[in-house]
Amino acid sequence: MGLPRFFGIDIGNHSIKAISLADTDTNSPRLVGYAYGSTPVGLFNSDNEEALHLLAKSIKEIIQSSSLNGINRVVFAVPESHVYRRLLVRIPYVDEHSLDTAVLFEMKKWLNSQLDDIRVDKSVIGVRYEDPVKVADVLGIAVKVSVLDKYLKVLELAGFEPIAAETEAIATVRSLTGSFADSPYSYMIVDFGSGSTDVSVGLNGKLIYSDSIPYGSDSVTKAIAQTFSMDFVKAEEYKKTYGIDPSNFNGKLANAIVPVMDMIMGDIRKIIEYFRREFMQIAPNKVFIVGDAANMPGLVPYMHDKLNVDIEIANPWATIRVAERDLAFLRRNASTYSVSIGLAKKTDI
Ligand SMILES: Nc1ncnc2c1ncn2[C@@H]1O[C@H](COP(=O)(O)OP(=O)(O)OP(=O)(O)O)[C@@H](O)[C@H]1O
Ligand SMILES: [Mg+2]
Repeated sequence: MGLPRFFGIDIGNHSIKAISLADTDTNSPRLVGYAYGSTPVGLFNSDNEEALHLLAKSIKEIIQSSSLNGINRVVFAVPESHVYRRLLVRIPYVDEHSLDTAVLFEMKKWLNSQLDDIRVDKSVIGVRYEDPVKVADVLGIAVKVSVLDKYLKVLELAGFEPIAAETEAIATVRSLTGSFADSPYSYMIVDFGSGSTDVSVGLNGKLIYSDSIPYGSDSVTKAIAQTFSMDFVKAEEYKKTYGIDPSNFNGKLANAIVPVMDMIMGDIRKIIEYFRREFMQIAPNKVFIVGDAANMPGLVPYMHDKLNVDIEIANPWATIRVAERDLAFLRRNASTYSVSIGLAKKTDI
């Protein structure tokens, strides 16, 4: 019996992306359908009833007018900015259930919260015997129930049946599994979104670290708009066309962008340094960039210069079979779909 057909949805500040795959138990899943649309401005972070209804309406329209129309079940992503994570070491591991209970206990203790306030998830980093017991090192993940409820409500209002949820970082790491050979080193994935820059570190396909930096590509647009007294729409155009490439406009645009990008790079560098200091033998030696803003002109050489590691725009489609007619559309912005592809690849539902 195969998995029930579902699509994975990534509801971002700026855009909504959804993907459904078949044959996810093989090395080359097949694309069943996809959808892309803009998130109505201002609705995403609003909690009022009317805004949630409007968001639901636009999600419904985006799915219905896409090749996903007719699929009812959905797996959704929780933004990293709403996620609490903690490295839990040497947790007694009798069986899966006891591990889940221990992770819930540890996370609640850390967050000082009541039983009903959070839901937890985990990424098992390693398991070993410390005679006579088995122990696990685990990345504990927690999300407030009120956050999950908001997504559940919006998706139900849109007429869909939510069957699972997970964090963007877990989905992003999964989206790239199978794309490159297993390596003894970890790899970092930087998701340049509109409102935040999310950083995940994966090792052998598992999430071992994640964080969310509260500046994204919209901060870059604001910097351009302020420096050149332009409106936001025009500044967006300049950002996408000329970016941080210093050979454009005698470097004037790049100069306006660099301060905010340097701030983001400073945070990313600290994470790399943390790994080098604490876990040198597995420290990330490569950075994959994803998200729409990964396509900013000049970004790859700029990041290479700042971080001094290999930088590559990720292609989460590498192992996915795509029909000829969809190739051109999807190739234009391949890395945009990382989170939704990772959700669609989920098999433990
Ligand atoms: N070619 C490009 N160059 C630079 N920036 C770009 C380009 N294309 C899109 N962007 C920027 O990418 C951002 C949107 O990216 P994306 O759709 O991945 O965000 P999101 O997932 O909706 O946001 P978030 O993850 O923060 O909720 C916008 O700020 C947009 O200006
Ligand atoms: Mg995003």
